[in-house]
Formats: sequence, C-alpha cells, structure tokens
Amino acid sequence: MIVFKTFGLCTLFGLTTAQIQQNIQNSLSVHDEEPLLRGLKLGELNFIHTTDTHGWYGSHKAQSDYDADWGDFISFIQHFRNNRIHGNKLIKRDLLVIDTGDKHDGNGLTDATSPNGLEANEIFNSLDYDLLTLGNHELYSAERAVFEYYTTAMSYRFKDKYISSNVNFITATGDEVPFGNKWRYFVTPYTRHRILALSFIFNFKTPNSRAKVTPLVEEIKKEWFLQLINKYPSNKIDVLLVFGHLSATDPVEHEINYLYDVLRSFYPDTVIQFFGGHSHIRDFVKFDDRSTCLQSGRFSDTVGFISINNIKSKHSEPIFFRRYLDFNKRSFKFHAKTKHLSTKVGNYVSSKINVLRTILDLDHQYGIVPQTYYMMARPLDSESNIYYLFKSEILLSLNSSITDPAIGRMIMINTGAIRYDLYKGPFTKDSEYIVLPFENTWNYMILPLKIASRIEEFLNEYPYVMKMLSPPEVFQNNILIKKNEIDCPVVDKPDLSEGYTTVDDFGCDGDDTPHNTQILYNVPNVIQSNQLVSTNPDSLIHFIFVSFLTDDILQAVNSIGSDISPGFQNYTSVDVNIYGGQSAKQLLREYIIQISQTQDK
Ligand SMILES: *[C@@H]1O[C@H](CO)[C@@H](O)[C@H](O)[C@H]1NC(C)=O
Ligand SMILES: *[C@@H]1O[C@H](CO)[C@@H](O)[C@H](O)[C@H]1NC(C)=O
Ligand SMILES: [Zn+2]
Ligand SMILES: [Zn+2]
Repeated sequence: MIVFKTFGLCTLFGLTTAQIQQNIQNSLSVHDEEPLLRGLKLGELNFIHTTDTHGWYGSHKAQSDYDADWGDFISFIQHFRNNRIHGNKLIKRDLLVIDTGDKHDGNGLTDATSPNGLEANEIFNSLDYDLLTLGNHELYSAERAVFEYYTTAMSYRFKDKYISSNVNFITATGDEVPFGNKWRYFVTPYTRHRILALSFIFNFKTPNSRAKVTPLVEEIKKEWFLQLINKYPSNKIDVLLVFGHLSATDPVEHEINYLYDVLRSFYPDTVIQFFGGHSHIRDFVKFDDRSTCLQSGRFSDTVGFISINNIKSKHSEPIFFRRYLDFNKRSFKFHAKTKHLSTKVGNYVSSKINVLRTILDLDHQYGIVPQTYYMMARPLDSESNIYYLFKSEILLSLNSSITDPAIGRMIMINTGAIRYDLYKGPFTKDSEYIVLPFENTWNYMILPLKIASRIEEFLNEYPYVMKMLSPPEVFQNNILIKKNEIDCPVVDKPDLSEGYTTVDDFGCDGDDTPHNTQILYNVPNVIQSNQLVSTNPDSLIHFIFVSFLTDDILQAVNSIGSDISPGFQNYTSVDVNIYGGQSAKQLLREYIIQISQTQDK
C-alpha cells in the first residue's frame, strides 16, 4: 500500500518544510491564520471528480468550509489546468473532469423550478466535463428522464461525453436507445493514454416509463459488451475507466466488487480506475495494485482528486495519489496556486446563480434558527439533534380535524425525510428545500396501544434498513458500513472546524483540510412522538405516519399482531385513513416562525 504521509508539494519540488509553509502562507491572504492544507501530487493522468451535487451550485451559505459556488469551481478548474497541469511545459500531463450523477433534490436552485432542475441544469452544464452520467435522482420521474436526456445526454456539448452503459432511454415512440453512449474510447491529448470508459448505475429498481435500468450483472453478459472487449483487448488500452452511480464500498450488494472481478478477468494487468457515488461519503478503495476507486462526498462539499503515474511502465507498478478537497475558495486558490480565483466564465456562472436565487426568492426569510441541529453529528437524545427536535417539539404540533385530545396518539416520520443539518442563522425558503425537500401527507390507523407501541422498534430492526431506503443515501451514510481496517485517530482539536477526517484504504490523510473530527452517530429508520392519555394496552390510539410508510406500517402491525395474539385478523389498506394536517415542512416552518417571534420579545 502506498501512503503519502508528507505534503504533495514536498515530494514534488523537494522544498524544506519552512519553504513549504512559506508557499502556503503566500498563497493565502496575509492575515488568515489557516491550518496548513495538504497539497496534492500530480501525475501523468489527473482526475477531478464530483458526485451527488443535488443542486448545490450556490455554495453552503451557513458553512464557511464549503463557501465556493459553481462559478468558483469552474474558475478553479481553469486555474488548475493552466497553473498545475500545464504549468511546466516540459512535463506532459492530462486532466479529466468527471461527474457521477444525482443532480436533483436537496437545494432550492433545482427544486424550486418545474421541471426540477430546469435552470440549475444549465449552471451545472457550464462546466466542461470530460465524462458524465446520471444518478437515480435523474430517473425519479419520466419528466426527469426526458429532461436529462435532451438537455444533457444529447446536448451538443456532452453528446460524446455522456455515458451510461446500463441505462436505456425510451423515446416518445417507445424505442429503446442508450441513455447517451454505452462506452467511449479516446486517447488523452497530451500523454496519449488510450482510455476505454464505461459507466454503470447501481441496480435501481424504480425507473420510470421513459428509462430502463438493466442490472450491471446482466448488462455485462450482453453481446455489445463482449464485442467491445474483443474490439479493445488489453493491448489496445492503457486505462479502463469505470465511473458511475454506485458506491465504492457496498457491503450489501457488492455490485462494484462484482464488476471489478469481471473486468479484471478480461484485463489481468490493465489499470482500472473507478469513480463512484450515491452513498454520499468520501471514500477510496484499493482493489489491487492496479485498480482503485474514488468517491467524492456530496452536495458540493468535496472535490475529489486522483493522479496516476507509471501507467505504461513495464517495470514498476502504477502510483495512485488521492486527495479530497473541501469545496471552498481557500482550498481552490491553494491547489490552483492562484491568489485570485475568479475568471470571466466563473464570474458569469456565479452571477447567473445569484440571479436565479433572486428570481426563485430563495433567500426569503421566515425566521431565525437559534442553534444548529444535526442529523448524525450529535447523539439522538441531544438537544442539538434535529430528530430530537422533531420528536420533542415539531411533530407534536400536527393538528387536523381528526385530532382529538381525548385520544392518545403516536406520530411517526422516517428519518430519511430529513436531508440535511439545520444550521443556525436565517431560515429561508432555501433552508426548507435543503432540510425537508419532500412534501408529505399523513395517514393514520386506529390501533390498540399494545400493537402501536411496538411498531417503532419493529421498523428500526436491522432487516428493514435496506428496504426502507428512500431516499437511500441517508442510511448508507453510516460510519458502521466502513470496514475500518485502518486505525485513524479521532482528531480532537476544537480550534479546527468540525468536518471530514476520512478513513480510507490509503490511510488517514486524504482530506486536504485538517478538521476536528465530526463523529457521526447511527440514525434509526423512523422516529416518533407520543401523546398518550392512557397506558392501558388495550386502549385504542391514533397511530399517525407519513403516507410513504403505509406498506411498512401494515407489515409491522400484522407481524406484531400475529405475534402477540393467535387468530389475529390482519389489517389492510382499508384500515388506513387520511389524517390531514400540516406537512412536516409546514410544521418546521411554523415552529421556526413561532420561536423567532419569542426570540424577538
Ligand atoms: C386544529 O385544527 C382544527 C381544524 O382542523 C381547528 O378547529 C382547531 O382550532 C385546531 N387546533 C389548534 C390547537 O390549532
Ligand atoms: C398477515 O400479515 C403477515 C405479515 O405481513 C403475513 O405474514 C401473513 O401471511 C398475513 N396473514 C394472512 C392471513 O394474510
Ligand atoms: Zn445522491
Ligand atoms: Zn443516488
């Protein structure tokens, strides 16, 4: 295993530590007392990777660690290309910029327009990606599939660069065509590496009437794939590039591992570089000495970088170098070696974002959030946990014509409905799209307390974890899935900001910015609030839940029922009724407005 413990700069130029520090200081504004950033080491082939942006093109207004917007990112790539990749005319290098999908849901820039992403897509597409593909969020509806296909996959700019090896688009006349290209073969312009690129999405089972996903296990048995491998045997390619919307670490389905095994059997010695996504983590996996996978965070909080050297060498193994960059202007300036980040195109895109924010009224303020509420970074019983806030305050304010104070009730929500931490500061229209992007309605059942009181535990038992993945990422974003063979110290330096301290197959130093470790806690599938008037196990209560959970609730109720009383008569959808009342989104808004008024007094 190759672990780069020193700064990339050091290995590159052989500078002393003092000189490096001087360089770093010079590249930062004079008065900032910044922690030293870890540099990156360039190679013959260099890759910049984004994934799961989910519409976050306008930066993270409440988190200074992620203060760059999409225009800044475009500027960064321009400078990086000029100053780093082609900075030394004597050294030939190539840079490929890749995205692995999920561009909708989670930010007002995408979600406040119809179709979702109508304007934001244009912003995303202003970046000159070399390779791009789709994620499951591009397939949530027929409208989205059609939109993605015509605005991006078939666009003038990307029609050669858009790849999806196992997704087909269904045309208006019902014909099935590849969603972009099934593969792409090309030679890099400077270092003349011959690359065969493929892109697979995980086995996403609910596509729409205008798209079809074939599990990769089946797709790679098809004729076109076998022909492709015949056309490009290992002596005709230098790098097999496999990017797509699937997790680098997949302890349940192992799809990427299966793909790796099959590809390795066809290409025993070829460098196979994977790029992954979907599970919203920073991750780097080493499959063997010639194959690795990089996954680059979520919500435009991360730019992933990897370089590969010695690709064609017959005598030595390739050298991989990975780095996760915090998505902020400081990191961008530092790595691109520039004092002034903005470029003409970058500025233009930033101003487009700001105009769009204004048109969509995303900064419209409903109130003030007094403190930050975290999803996973605080324990579930902490007053700084957002689920605790929902449990102890927000859900209890649900009220409809069914509400009867004389009848006890339980109100349940799936934790996946909440998508992001709620940050201290202005609570805006955008905050709503960020924290609770999905609308919901409430259903209820009249149940004896002895059954109702066991539903939460039933749904939080392990086998349900995988079934209830909607949205999927929240549950997989779970530190427990990572095998953690490498022991990395928990960083406890309160003067550093709380953030990523990633553990991956190359060790503990992948992040460019040293952070205070943000410890993540397990989140259950569901949480609930209780308002009981009786503890009699046979008393009937209103069991209220987001309608999305209906099938799971019925299954839970019937399993529990038949477990505790023989001859139990199963409940059916006839026993499920509409409760009405405010959506979770409205409840949160009302709560913030109410506490903002009390703060004013
Ligand atoms: C609850 O809603 C009902 C109508 O749906 C209304 O009559 C009642 O005043 C509401 N109660 C509260 C406390 O808001
Ligand atoms: C009742 O529901 C349980 C749990 O879903 C199921 O296993 C069982 O087969 C059902 N019984 C009948 C008679 O439908
Ligand atoms: Zn995603
Ligand atoms: Zn996804």
